[in-house]
Amino acid sequence: MASQSLWRKKPISAYQADAKKSDLKRVLTRWGLTSLGIGAIIGGGIFTLTGIAAHDFAGPALAISFIIAGVGCLFASLCYAEFASVLPVEGSAYAYAYGTVGEFFAWFIGWNLILEYMMGATTVAVAWSGYFEKLLHLFGIDLPIWIMNDPVTAAAKAQALGMEAPGFAFNLPAILITILVTSILVKGIKEAASTNNVIVILKVAVVLFVIIAGAFYVNTDNWHPFIPAKITLPDGTESFGWDGVVTAATIVFFAYIGFDAVSTQAGEAINPKKDVPFAIIASLIICTVLYILVSLVLTGMVPYTELDLKAPVASAFEGVGVTWAVFLIVIAATAGLTSVMLVMMLGQTRIFLGMAKDGLLPKSLFGSIHPVFKTPYKSTILVGAVVSVVAAFTPINKVSEMCSMGTLLAFAMVCGAVWLLRVKEPDLERPYRTPMLPLVATLGMGFNVFLMSKVRHETWVAFLIWGSIGILVYFAYSRNASNLNKESSEVDS
Ligand code: ALA
Repeated sequence: MASQSLWRKKPISAYQADAKKSDLKRVLTRWGLTSLGIGAIIGGGIFTLTGIAAHDFAGPALAISFIIAGVGCLFASLCYAEFASVLPVEGSAYAYAYGTVGEFFAWFIGWNLILEYMMGATTVAVAWSGYFEKLLHLFGIDLPIWIMNDPVTAAAKAQALGMEAPGFAFNLPAILITILVTSILVKGIKEAASTNNVIVILKVAVVLFVIIAGAFYVNTDNWHPFIPAKITLPDGTESFGWDGVVTAATIVFFAYIGFDAVSTQAGEAINPKKDVPFAIIASLIICTVLYILVSLVLTGMVPYTELDLKAPVASAFEGVGVTWAVFLIVIAATAGLTSVMLVMMLGQTRIFLGMAKDGLLPKSLFGSIHPVFKTPYKSTILVGAVVSVVAAFTPINKVSEMCSMGTLLAFAMVCGAVWLLRVKEPDLERPYRTPMLPLVATLGMGFNVFLMSKVRHETWVAFLIWGSIGILVYFAYSRNASNLNKESSEVDS
């Protein structure tokens, strides 16, 4: 009985019933959803991580790294799209696994999605703080290190400046931006979507500006050699050559995270069965094309060895003497990162809502909807509190790697689960069908597991600890509290 409960599945009819009685407002159109996807995708990855990926690992072949990571994500997005058309509910990969593989796996996916969404938002809060600092600096304001950084980063910065490490440090801008985003989200999905739309327009406009204006400054000599010769660093890390290109692909993978966030908004879409699959694929394709063009322009404008590690896009324009563009890019990046946080935190609360509706999380906290705003306000405030505390005290690389691990596992599981559902329930209505399914699902799983194998040992340890805590919580609380458990006890009695 106990082992059977691990495999119990939520019937597809129950999802359809949930979707009908949803308290959320259905306001999102096809392009509104696509805009949410783009809002979640374009952010720290393109504005920050391109620097380290090109400078240290891929050189001008950064564009190839973006193609590799983009194609891998495309497999996952095609699988997400089919699921979203069959189960247009807010739980995303968690909900899909619950309807196909079983409760325990669904729980485990949901637990890992916390890494993707909550640690994603945390990563971006810290990146936001970095750009905000730059923005203040452009206006001649420099605040003390101890209120702008986590303790580890503050100590490193103080040391680099020949100063004594501060006794206490925290990242105040990261806390403030999280409070702002939390307030917008508590107020309502419509406000969040409108704020997001404005930012997305600004963000895409600046990315297009970078591509078009930057193209005039491309010196094709900078693209030779396109893939710099492989070197092995003293610590054994391999850079450049094809190995470097693959390592850079694992770094820029972060830049694509977010297309799946569209699936968490199915409960608020006007026509989720058709529009969510469209938006998932459209937002990913649009961003892939933009990313490839930005990488070609950046590495063409200045030699990759001169790209800045923290603000590569702005620095490339500085490098060719167009300093006024730096203002524009820094402002767009600051606003753009805000919209990534908005969608990530929105996604997290909707996944919690899905889990609470199924009884796997306490309904009083995660399922409670505000009577006027119609948003899950308690869980939004809780998510905001966790993100701000972690962002205040943790360095960016630690949180971003945990975010990628959680995402990679979720993507791999979705690819497997969509295939399983095709085999087990071939007659279900599927408004969108993943093309060439066994092949696409296999490539999706292979790609994501391959990237997981490339993540650092330390991150694996943290990931295993996080997973173990999740398993404990399931057995201590969720298995008994599950709606399916209550239903089966009622049947037994
Ligand atoms: N893709 C998002 C970013 O790059 C998470 O910020």
